[in-house]
Amino acid sequence: MASLEGKKILLGVTGGIAAYKAADLCRQLTRKGCLVRVVMTRGATEFVSPLTFQALSGNPVHTELLDSDAEAGMGHIELAKWPDLILIAPATANIISLYAHGQASDLLTTLLLATQSKVAIAPAMNQAMWRHPITQLNIAKLRDSLAGTCEIWGPGEGAQACGDTGPGRLLEPEELAHRVVEFFDNKNLQQNKKTDLTGTRVVITAGPTREAIDPVRYISNHSSGKMGYALAAAFSASGAEVVLVSGPVDISAPMGVRCIQVTSACEMLSVAEEAVSDGCDIFVAAAAVADYRVETVASSKMKKKGDSDLVLKLCQNPDIVASIAAKPDKPFVVGFAAETNDLLAYAKAKMEKKNLDMIIANDVSKKGIGFNSDRNAVHVLCREQMVELPEQSKAALSQKIVEIIAARASQVAPGKSV
Ligand code: PMT
Repeated sequence: MASLEGKKILLGVTGGIAAYKAADLCRQLTRKGCLVRVVMTRGATEFVSPLTFQALSGNPVHTELLDSDAEAGMGHIELAKWPDLILIAPATANIISLYAHGQASDLLTTLLLATQSKVAIAPAMNQAMWRHPITQLNIAKLRDSLAGTCEIWGPGEGAQACGDTGPGRLLEPEELAHRVVEFFDNKNLQQNKKTDLTGTRVVITAGPTREAIDPVRYISNHSSGKMGYALAAAFSASGAEVVLVSGPVDISAPMGVRCIQVTSACEMLSVAEEAVSDGCDIFVAAAAVADYRVETVASSKMKKKGDSDLVLKLCQNPDIVASIAAKPDKPFVVGFAAETNDLLAYAKAKMEKKNLDMIIANDVSKKGIGFNSDRNAVHVLCREQMVELPEQSKAALSQKIVEIIAARASQVAPGKSV
């Protein structure tokens, strides 16, 4: 995991009720060793006093664009050049709109235009404002026009201060601090890259699938997508062109990675097949795909029937990785095996049965690794070789997995661009 010691974070706080959470975030970042400078919009100062942030960051808080005292200290252009990362938390619909439209109407928006640093936006607003097509257009504009420069972190879903429920909650300060750590982990990967996969096309499946029972219920599992997303970041950091086919997760795609969202296994299969047919040298199946789906999905919400039990008839889902591995001109295919016992024996059997070139076995019975964790420990197996990678962050692990895959894929398919 990257150390945050000395990392320079410019924390932009805008005017929403979640501004109080930014104080905790500021505290967490400084505790991790970050140097934090806070810029507040006028609205933000209505919610929390600049003094709070001054005390927590140990630095004067910047609020005005045209402030001769501030300009005599750290002027706005100097401030724009200072950070390793600008994090706007909370980011209101207003700041998102101003940023998407290139407005420089106050200090924070001016900094956003003047900076060459990476920017992360953590939206926080009422659910209807978040869902509004204009807000969604602005978000899409930032994602498209600033791909590789700007990431959107969140929002989360749940009960809101206004009494509504839905998407628009600021991610919790711990989660945002964790994203900052991940951001610098990925940056480190890019700086230390040993494997050059420029020109290689990689398709990765990640996250869970959801299999509908009726319009409001589904069958799924605990996959968070963290393993697949970390692999996508590591492949991308090595120069590969990455398509991520992702089930429903709460994390955002790494910078520079094309992410296609899907819900069910059948949908994941058809999107993965299309991505592979567009050109693919390496296919990695990190998704936890539901093996079964409900045979007949109810078209309206199922009602409880007295005291009798409910029996659902399940039918098998297609096996995505096996069907990619069965193609005549197949890419180098890597699967995962999530096992709770007899790890290596089951993993080897899966590799044979699904005709995989490599399988990554993880013991999902161990606490603190595997499903929905930031860490993992795996055995990487191919027919003649086995490498054990001990417990570490999924980011660090992914870098090692990418090196092993790249080395093996170039032996197996020397003609391909790996
Ligand atoms: O997402 P995280 O929270 O970070 O957790 C990571 C993980 C534990 C989900 C991941 O590391 C992992 O092990 N993924 C595979 C989980 C799984 O479904 O394993 P499996 O043994 O059931 O499947 C074997 C392989 O076949 C996997 O590559 C799987 O993607 C693939 N598969 C399975 C069923 C299916 N219908 N289609 C598939 O492609």
